Amino acid sequence: MKKGIFAAVAAVGLAAIALTGCSSASGTSGAGGGAKGDTIKVGFSQEGAESGWRTANTKSLQEALSADNGFKLTFSDAQQKQENQIAAIRSFITQGVDAIVFAPVVETGWTDVLKQAKQAGIPVILEDRDVDADDQQYITSRVGDDFEKEGETACTWITDNFNGKGANMVVLEGTAGSSAANDRTTGCAKAMQGSDINILDQQDGNFTRAQGKTVMEGFLQKYGEKINVLFAQNDDMGLGALDAIKAAGLTPGKDIQIVTVDGTHDGLTAVANGEFNYVVECNPLLGDQVAKVVKDVVAGTSVDKLYLAKDEAFDQAAAKTALPDRKY
Ligand code: AHR
Repeated sequence: MKKGIFAAVAAVGLAAIALTGCSSASGTSGAGGGAKGDTIKVGFSQEGAESGWRTANTKSLQEALSADNGFKLTFSDAQQKQENQIAAIRSFITQGVDAIVFAPVVETGWTDVLKQAKQAGIPVILEDRDVDADDQQYITSRVGDDFEKEGETACTWITDNFNGKGANMVVLEGTAGSSAANDRTTGCAKAMQGSDINILDQQDGNFTRAQGKTVMEGFLQKYGEKINVLFAQNDDMGLGALDAIKAAGLTPGKDIQIVTVDGTHDGLTAVANGEFNYVVECNPLLGDQVAKVVKDVVAGTSVDKLYLAKDEAFDQAAAKTALPDRKY
């Protein structure tokens, strides 16, 4: 992993100060061993396989939590269903893994299963998305991205380019109830405060290309050429929307300007081609940092409560420069 990609966050606002105060891993010796030199048994519950970002994220975790690196990984794909994640975590507890890693599909509804992990003495490390404030007490650490900042950066570009012009915007939101969607919406609202941009509509596209296309088709039928700008909360939904916009006889990037989040190879290619106008990065390559946190926790070394990846943003020139070395 490149040095400097992650910033450990000691305090993330007032509500988090109490949590960060106990950042050293508590109750983390693990149920199934994991003493120095032993193979560390990890259960990883991935929330799904809905996007190019997710594919890259899964690969990053699987490579970092490999046998060569001293791990025995049990992987489970929940297909974007919370009940599947709860069942997977219960099974990891029964198996007596040393640590549980999971990317929660939504923010709420985890208390019972997280309590069970805590009672079994198994540390839980979040990767990618977050759980709500009530469940933070059961989480040892989170390795992820700053979704609120991503939403704010995306919508700052929109206000910089459209404020004062009476523009109309539509929003393709990510999975309802996920921290990625919630926080990007909050960040965007912050940036839009005081602007005259009119949000015509915002709907859930579940972070997938197919649903992004379907929802955009609906927007186009309803609002047609009134739409000036689209904020898609991930590349995949934006790419699905491209098809709908072209099929409606409009030119993406010109008739409707498009801003997305992720910065996958496909997303940056669309920026370089002028079909997307701006993309904010959400780094999916979290595996090495997750592996380090798991090793530290199992060894009884203190870890921070939160590790955030540093995210960049790309206009057309920056996308063209970044593309040749893009890893996902
Ligand atoms: O939680 C991260 C988000 O989930 C990414 O932006 C999106 O592509 C993925 O599905």
